[in-house]
Amino acid sequence: PFGILSRLREESPVRYDAVRGCWEVFAYEDVHQVLKDHGHFSSARGASAGESVLFSDPPRHTQLRDLVNKAFTPRAIQEFTPRIESIVHDLLAHADGSGMDIVHDYATPLPVIIIAELLGAPQEDRDRFKRWSDVLVESAQNDTEEAFRGVMERRQQAISELSAYFTSLLELRAKRPQDDLISLLLMAEIDGERLTPRELISFCVLLMVAGNETTTNLITNGVRLLTEQPDLQRELRRNLDLVPEFVEETLRFYPPVVAIGRVAKQDTAIGSSTVKAGEQIIAWVGAANRDPGKFHDPDSFLLGRKPNPHLSFGFGIHFCLGAPLARLEAKHALGALLRHAEALAAAPDRTLTPIASSFVFGVKSFPVAFR
Ligand code: HEM
Repeated sequence: PFGILSRLREESPVRYDAVRGCWEVFAYEDVHQVLKDHGHFSSARGASAGESVLFSDPPRHTQLRDLVNKAFTPRAIQEFTPRIESIVHDLLAHADGSGMDIVHDYATPLPVIIIAELLGAPQEDRDRFKRWSDVLVESAQNDTEEAFRGVMERRQQAISELSAYFTSLLELRAKRPQDDLISLLLMAEIDGERLTPRELISFCVLLMVAGNETTTNLITNGVRLLTEQPDLQRELRRNLDLVPEFVEETLRFYPPVVAIGRVAKQDTAIGSSTVKAGEQIIAWVGAANRDPGKFHDPDSFLLGRKPNPHLSFGFGIHFCLGAPLARLEAKHALGALLRHAEALAAAPDRTLTPIASSFVFGVKSFPVAFR
């Protein structure tokens, strides 16, 4: 989609889409303005408005975010390194020597298991989470309507099993708190009041939803780049210390989240246009990240690009809570994969099926061959 996005950015950096009834913003400075100016551009929209940190504005946003910030600082997250290494090791040990489907066998289970453990699920339950994640990632591509219904039913079933799992974990921790995120949330107070069970469960589910598919796509997009650009793969193999820089440029080049939505609170100018109060705005991160006004040679993947102010984790008060975790998981997943396989190549018979959402950049499966 990046070619189309760049063309739209060149044609009209801000435009009104009369069919969808919303504004679209493509240039870096304008996308940055929309994300930064939470006073004029609200995140509260849809049914879940106000309930979750992602869809709320200050002051509620500040209160919710303060509760969890501490658990997600780079330092706190660094402590997950041994667990990430152990999961990555297990997943690679189970792979058949000739290759694996990166999405299904690697990039999906890792973030699901990590978030579950971060919340407080015991390590013994790892297999159950792997099973739930298998169901959640099951794709309905090329299937009959009946098969599609089956997938949807299994998906619904897995989500209710997950909610039930977290409900009982909450009950356990209410009796005996431990050093985990669920206990932290249980004990937390906003103006002297605890979160309701509903709010607690929806926060767990938000983390599962916001954090999993995005991280899966980051890892898969990284592997995809390694297979598309063999020179880059060779360069990284020569110096694995460059993996964090590779992850950063992957975020810019193939961002897992391509677009972010907002609603104007009052009439506001963006560029030479005026957005009216109540109108929807789509801020195209995928276009901003390739704006030549901000990035030199934007359509080239430059390992070690500096500075690299991509907007792939958003900007401002809603800047991704899980960014340190996603970066750490991607670093270990990609580093271990490069060490495990002498060479990585896209399987010859593979077809790329994009995930069916224009807000997300990723594929449903990505078989690779090891050599
Ligand atoms: C917010 C992207 C991983 C949890 C965001 C936003 C973006 C984003 C663009 C801002 C949305 C907005 O401004 O409306 C990504 C990408 C990821 C990733 C690309 C992986 C590569 C994670 C992980 C977690 C997570 C691993 C949790 C463990 C959240 C939460 C928010 C958020 C809770 C809302 C923060 C707020 O509203 O203050 N993410 N995310 N994300 N992300 Fe991530």
